Amino acid sequence: MKILAIETSCDDTCVAVLEIRNWKLEIISNIVSSQVNLHAKYGGVYPFMAKREHQRNLPIVFKKALKKAKNPKINLIAVTIGPGLEPCLWVGVNFARDLAEKLKLPIVPVNHIEAHIYANFLNYESGSRNLFPAICLVASGGHTQLILMKNVGNYKILGETRDDAAGECFDKVARILGLGYPGGPAIAAEAAKYKIQDIKYKIQLPRPMIYQKNYDFSFSGLKTAVLYLVKQLTINNKQLTISQKREICSEAQQAVIDVLIHKTLKAAKDFKAKTIILGGGVAANDELRKQLKQRIKKEIPNTKYIIPDTKYCTDNAAMVAATAYFNLKKNKSLEPENIEANANLRLK
Ligand code: KG4
Ligand code: ZN
Repeated sequence: MKILAIETSCDDTCVAVLEIRNWKLEIISNIVSSQVNLHAKYGGVYPFMAKREHQRNLPIVFKKALKKAKNPKINLIAVTIGPGLEPCLWVGVNFARDLAEKLKLPIVPVNHIEAHIYANFLNYESGSRNLFPAICLVASGGHTQLILMKNVGNYKILGETRDDAAGECFDKVARILGLGYPGGPAIAAEAAKYKIQDIKYKIQLPRPMIYQKNYDFSFSGLKTAVLYLVKQLTINNKQLTISQKREICSEAQQAVIDVLIHKTLKAAKDFKAKTIILGGGVAANDELRKQLKQRIKKEIPNTKYIIPDTKYCTDNAAMVAATAYFNLKKNKSLEPENIEANANLRLK
C-alpha cells in the first residue's frame, strides 16, 4: 500500500509518499520545504506568516512529492492535525480533505508528537516487538515531553515543559547571541568549536528543575540567565568575544542536555523501561545523542536505545505516514469533513 502524508504544523511544508510492502516501509518521496529564510529575519515563527507560506508552498511541494514518487497510486492520505500552530495546521488539513474527496480516498488524522516517535520506526526493521514499555523523550521547538509508551498507540504523558520547549530555548539563546534561526544547529556548531583554553573564566548556567522529583521541565529561566550574563559581559558597550560566545553556547547546550538526560533516565528507571526512544528536532543534536547513549550504557545497560536518522528528527511527512500505518487498526479513517485541526491535541 502507498500512503501520502501531509505535515504543516509549524514552519516546514512537508509531503511524503511511503510504500509498505511485506511489512517493510520504504520512503519513495519525502519533500520538506523549510521557511527558515523567512523566519530567520525575525528570529522565530509568526503563525500567520507561516500559514501564508504553507498556502503558497503546499501545492508545489505536493506536486514535487508525486513527481519524485513517479505519480503513484495512493491508497490512503495521512495528515497532521495537531498539536501545532492552528492556522498552519488548517492549511494541511484543508488540503488533505479536498484531496481525499477528489480521489475518494480514506483519510487518517495524525498527532504530531506521535509522529516524532514513529520517525524511529521508519527504518527499524524488527518492528515494534519487545520494545515496551518504552520511555520517549520528544524535544522540539514547540514541545518537550516525557512519554510512557506502553504499546503501539498507548501513551501516558509523564511530564512536560512548564514554559519554553528545549528547542525554543536554543532558538531564544541563539537570538540573544545573534546566531540566527533555527538556534539549535547554530548553537551546536559554536559549542563544538569551544575550546576550554580560550576562556579566562568559567561561566555556569542553571539546570532548571533537574533534581525535582517529577518529570517536568522548565527552560525559560535558562534563557533569562543567558540574557543577564550577556548584559553583564557587554556592559559599557563591550562586545562579546568569539570565545565567550562559544563558551555560552557550550554551557547552554550542556545545561539543556543535562536536564533532558537526567529526567529521561529517571523515568526509564522508575518505569523499568525496555527502551528509550528519542524524537523531535532537538534529537538531531549530536551531543545529546552521544551523551544519552553513554549514560544508558553506564547506568541501565540492558535498556535499548533508539534514535531516528538525523534527517527525520526535524519535521517531515515521512514520519506522519509511518504513524498512520502503525495505527491503521486504531485510527479508523474518518469522513473528510470530520477531520479537524486541534492546536492543543494531546497524546493518550
Ligand atoms: O521538530 P521540529 O522540526 O519542529 C517542531 O515540532 O517544533 O524542531 C525544531 C526545533 C528548533 O527549535 C531547532 O532549534 C531544534 O529543533 N533543533 C536542534 C537541532 N536541530 C534542530 N536543537 C539542537 N540541536 C540540533 N542539532
Ligand atoms: Zn515537530
